[in-house]
Amino acid sequence: MAKEIVVMSVLLFVLAATTKADTQSGYGPRCSSLCNSSAPTHIHFYFHDKITGPSPSAVQVVSPPNKTSPTSFGTVYVMDDPLTEGPDPRSKPVGRAQGMYLSSDQVRIGFLQAMNIVLTAGLYNGSVITVLGSNHISDSIREMPVVGGTSAFRFARGYAQARTYFLDSNGLDAIVEYNVYVFH
Ligand SMILES: *[C@@H]1O[C@H](CO)[C@@H](O)[C@H](O)[C@H]1NC(C)=O
Ligand SMILES: *[C@@H]1O[C@H](CO)[C@@H](O)[C@H](O)[C@H]1NC(C)=O
Ligand SMILES: *[C@@H]1O[C@H](CO)[C@@H](O)[C@H](O)[C@H]1NC(C)=O
Repeated sequence: MAKEIVVMSVLLFVLAATTKADTQSGYGPRCSSLCNSSAPTHIHFYFHDKITGPSPSAVQVVSPPNKTSPTSFGTVYVMDDPLTEGPDPRSKPVGRAQGMYLSSDQVRIGFLQAMNIVLTAGLYNGSVITVLGSNHISDSIREMPVVGGTSAFRFARGYAQARTYFLDSNGLDAIVEYNVYVFH
């Protein structure tokens, strides 16, 4: 018990010390070397959205409210999609896209997409870029705003461009190439 209390105290001390350092510098220790306000950072990856099969990375949580809507207007999906360096799903993992997309256009297929790009490798491992935008999947390039971020991406502003790399014959599973440009 006493040992546990000591461990807890040490942890709290470390936490308090980290918080203090963060507050003093404004950015925290990670950002000072990783941030650059004079040029945007370019992040490139492939996004794997798999709805079908035994272990989907995106699930439908609201089914189409109107079965005859040509765009399944109102349908909601939640995703935890793997992000990789190359288009091959087995290539190096670089992060996850966690969030949701919902059918928000009654005329042509288009989603409101809200996601956190959680980076898990490389220079920006542990940092998050938050994207909120409109994704009309039949457009060759879809642009969505970067609305914020954490750690190295505090104060982030920028945009993400999505381009479909591969669409399965079922029209559901997709591999999408992303180029994200961020000032931070
Ligand atoms: C910031 O970007 C500029 C222009 O690309 C570059 O010359 C400079 O070295 C960068 N600074 C850092 C700290 O990365
Ligand atoms: C369902 O969608 C169809 C096609 O857009 C539309 O004509 C119909 O009015 C909708 N029905 C309801 C109940 O909203
Ligand atoms: C990313 O950071 C986590 C936490 O610090 C660490 O466990 C992991 O090994 C890192 N991943 C890579 C690929 O560097």
